[in-house]
Amino acid sequence: EKDPRIARISSSIRIIPDFPKKGILFQDITTLLLDTKAFKDTIDLFVDRYKGKNISVVAGIEARGFIFGPPIALAIGAKFVPLRKPKKLPGEVISEEYSLEYGKDVIEMHVGAVQAGERALVIDDLIATGGTLCAAISLLERVGVHVVECACVIELPELKGRERLEDKPLFVLISG
Ligand code: PRP
Repeated sequence: EKDPRIARISSSIRIIPDFPKKGILFQDITTLLLDTKAFKDTIDLFVDRYKGKNISVVAGIEARGFIFGPPIALAIGAKFVPLRKPKKLPGEVISEEYSLEYGKDVIEMHVGAVQAGERALVIDDLIATGGTLCAAISLLERVGVHVVECACVIELPELKGRERLEDKPLFVLISG
C-alpha cells in the first residue's frame, strides 16, 4: 500500500531532541532538502495527487510551507500565496488569530491575492496541534475560497491535529 519513496523521505528527515526547547523532538526537514531524490519525490507525490484537480491556489504557511508550496504550485499550474506571520506582508492584509499552548499567534494574507470561488490547497511541512492549519482554512474560507485539502510532509498523530481540522481532508506523507 505504502509508496516505496516514503521510506527514503522519512529517513532523510533529521530529528533533533530538545529544540527549540527541552522535551521537543524537532523534525528537521532541511536534511530532506539536501537529498535531491527525496526532495523531488516529496514534490512529485504531492503533484501527482493534486494535478488535474482544478486547484488555482497553493497557500503555503510560513516558513516551511514556502519551501514545498512553490514547486507544487508551478507543476500544477496554480498560483502561490504566502500565509505569513504578522506585520511581514507590505500590502493590505486580512488576519486570523489562533491560540497556542501559551498565548496566541496570527497569520495574514494579502487582500486580493485570492478571489471568492477559487479552489485552494494549503501546504505546510508539519501538523502538530493543527492550530495553524485551522487558522489558514478559516482565513481562506472568510474570503470565499474553497479549501480542497490540507497537505503536510509530517503529521504528529498523538497531538490529534487531524481531529481539530474536523471534516477538512488532510493528506500527509509521514505519520508518527
Ligand atoms: C511549525 C510548523 C507548522 C506549525 C504546526 O511552525 O512548521 O507551521 O508549527 O504547529 P500546529 O499544528 O501546532 O499549529 P513554527 O511554529 O516552528 O514556525 P516557523 O515555521 O515560522 O519556524
